[in-house]
Amino acid sequence: MSGKIAVVGSNMVDLITYTDRMPLPGETIEAPRFEMGCGGKGANQAIAAARLGAEVMMVTKVGDDIFADNTIRNFQTSGIDTRFVERVPGTSSGVAPIFVEPSGENSILIIKGANALLSPADVDRAAEALKDCSLILMQLEIPLETVYHTIDFGARHGIPTLVNPAPAPAELDPRRIEKATFLVPNQTELATISGMAVNNEHDAELAARALIQRGVHTVIVTLGSRGALLVTGEAPAKHIAPVKVTPVDTTGAGDAFIGCFARYYVQTGDVEAALHKAVRYAANSILRPGTQKSYVDEAAFEAFCATL
Ligand code: RIB
Ligand code: NA
Repeated sequence: MSGKIAVVGSNMVDLITYTDRMPLPGETIEAPRFEMGCGGKGANQAIAAARLGAEVMMVTKVGDDIFADNTIRNFQTSGIDTRFVERVPGTSSGVAPIFVEPSGENSILIIKGANALLSPADVDRAAEALKDCSLILMQLEIPLETVYHTIDFGARHGIPTLVNPAPAPAELDPRRIEKATFLVPNQTELATISGMAVNNEHDAELAARALIQRGVHTVIVTLGSRGALLVTGEAPAKHIAPVKVTPVDTTGAGDAFIGCFARYYVQTGDVEAALHKAVRYAANSILRPGTQKSYVDEAAFEAFCATL
């Protein structure tokens, strides 16, 4: 295994407004602060993994606007392989207006733009490079057909795949994600996919087991401030304990978690150890505003872990 990570996924430009509260319909209010940054679940996961030292390649589409140049430059300065980042003429790049309230809680609108055009054929074009990867990451900000196609590709070539079913899918076909190696939902996404109520960890384990019975190898449920739950095979579920921090901005914490998990998983193959790191990296990311801007490099991450 090469240890390389591929992301077949989205990129967005995050337009982040920090507000004291959300405006009511018909109301205009003033917000104190605005920031623009690179985001998108796919790109965020790629950047987190790369910042921690992984070799990463990105399969994605950008539009032909100023956002596109910025996004490509951002990948390149992070050392990410952009051979399969394609510009689509006449299309806008993905953008995400985000609102962050004083609690650190966020509300996000996404406009997929060029991400909606990432097709199975684009994945096939990257096939040779993908075959050289040790893990392929996906989220649901690209067409579902492309996700299904990539899962099948991974299964056919013995390349582990990880699906982060976010944002919560309206019409995901559970049968077509059964060959995924890792499924990493939060509780809401898990409930949607399994069709079961998920209100606590016990529910989460039952829903995860139902998916495992259908063929998914490992389910990792992210529990926000309560850590994560690892469910695989017949083994008892393992709770990955959280680390306690006071949130400033939780946007992109789930992506930090997955990028970090991927980086350490491909290095050691140790799922549980990688999850312990992932919980810490996600916690670290919520201490600072922004998505990718809040992801630290490996030295800073190790320094943070040493303080815990
Ligand atoms: O997961 C956070 C991300 O969701 C943001 O960066 C935004 O772009 C949306 O895709
Ligand atoms: Na953050």
